[in-house]
Amino acid sequence: MLDALAQMEGPPDVVCLSGWVKGFHSTEPPLGAGYFGFDDSATMVGESRMLGHPVRTFSSTHERSHLLSAYGMSDVEHGRSCYALVWEGNIGSFYEFTPELRIRRISSVLEDPGNKYQHVFALADPSSPPQHGGFRFSNAGKMMALTGFARPTPVSRAERELIEYILDQPSILLTAPKEKLSWSPFHDIGVESQEFKDLAAKHSQAIFERFLAVAERELTGGLPLLIAGGCGLNCDWNSQWRDCGLFPEVFVPPCPNDSGSAIGTAVDAQLHFTGQSKITWDVYRGPDFLHDRTRAQIRDTFDEHALDLPQLAAQLAAGKVFAWVQGRCEIGPRALGNRSLLAAPFEKGMRDRLNHIKLREPYRPIAPVCREEDVSEHFDWDGPSPYMLYFQNVRDPRLRAVTHVDGTARAQTVSTSQNPRLHALLSAFKQATGTGVLCNTSLNLPGRGFINSTSDLVTYVLDRGIDGFVLEDRLYLARRAPLGPTDGQDGPA
Ligand SMILES: [Fe+2]
Repeated sequence: MLDALAQMEGPPDVVCLSGWVKGFHSTEPPLGAGYFGFDDSATMVGESRMLGHPVRTFSSTHERSHLLSAYGMSDVEHGRSCYALVWEGNIGSFYEFTPELRIRRISSVLEDPGNKYQHVFALADPSSPPQHGGFRFSNAGKMMALTGFARPTPVSRAERELIEYILDQPSILLTAPKEKLSWSPFHDIGVESQEFKDLAAKHSQAIFERFLAVAERELTGGLPLLIAGGCGLNCDWNSQWRDCGLFPEVFVPPCPNDSGSAIGTAVDAQLHFTGQSKITWDVYRGPDFLHDRTRAQIRDTFDEHALDLPQLAAQLAAGKVFAWVQGRCEIGPRALGNRSLLAAPFEKGMRDRLNHIKLREPYRPIAPVCREEDVSEHFDWDGPSPYMLYFQNVRDPRLRAVTHVDGTARAQTVSTSQNPRLHALLSAFKQATGTGVLCNTSLNLPGRGFINSTSDLVTYVLDRGIDGFVLEDRLYLARRAPLGPTDGQDGPA
């Protein structure tokens, strides 16, 4: 709140509160307008005072925050009808925006799709806690990685029984604790077992097919589809929606999960008070970086250089890993080129080193960032993919560090207008190696947001054995030897 107030020139016109609950489960007492509700009755308007000035207050439900963030950020013109899908921990529904921007729910397809998605991971993971059905926010990302290891085998009876049981449960976290599922052969089987990896892929596909069946039956008007909710971070599902042939356009914002809820409620308030639904935005509108160390202090432990992109590209080509900090943070959970760890994409050992730096499991993939104009050279995709929300098959056998076990990657493309300095670095790397692609993984501490201050950055780089960092137009090289494993990686032959 203090950071937000520091950026304001005066008292606000409206103070908005995204609806939520007072507790852990969506069924607990409402906070503000609460969790569920999609029509006009799901908003609350009032008046208050701030800093001696009258302000209007507004709250709308969590469900509406997802819907309005997708509508307000999309290219769909104000007043154009479209379909929307909200799928997240608790909600799994299709909607239609009318030309008057009323929201009609077409179908509530599946309760708790996100929670059910991660539930099989918790069931198979002996370390998952018994409370809340073993729910952990990190489960979904691990599941997505493990589905890539699945074999294309038919669905077995044991797999079908478990998947159908979970998908048919109401309020999954409350009704199906792990001990209640001890009958399943997948109970505590271990998430790295081949049996679990096969199950994970089939479970994922079963969830998608429940939604696809309803879409094929009821979303036949040829309207664009907006996707919101945390399941909108699943690149496999997004790719299937894009390719299913039902929708002329599919839009997923870079913050489809709850990180977009504040924007969605602000859009909703703007719509209520002004009649306008669209906002001007770009993905680099997150918080400013906090410069809480002087350059002289940084030079106590780092050698400082003016940023020279060809020189940096040569160091990356020689196998070094750099943190990269530019301007304001990305919005949403994915590193899109302003808070990143960057490295050469050629050797599997680099993926292992990056996972080691990030304290992640070795099976987690590392995503590539690629010059937009080169994307079809390396991946089976042509055009922009600026938010790392879709899978591509990797065409270029040199890209071993960013190719998942199933031959896919979730590439982010970068153009000169989107991120000129990162694009220039990719061009310099292409000059050095022939390939305008780098590993790009988020610069964050486990379970926390992006690293966003010099003090955290310096500590992280030193603690994790990273070779140095770029901060705006300065390059800082760690003076002491890296602590992490080195692999003597070279560029391609
Ligand atoms: Fe949500």
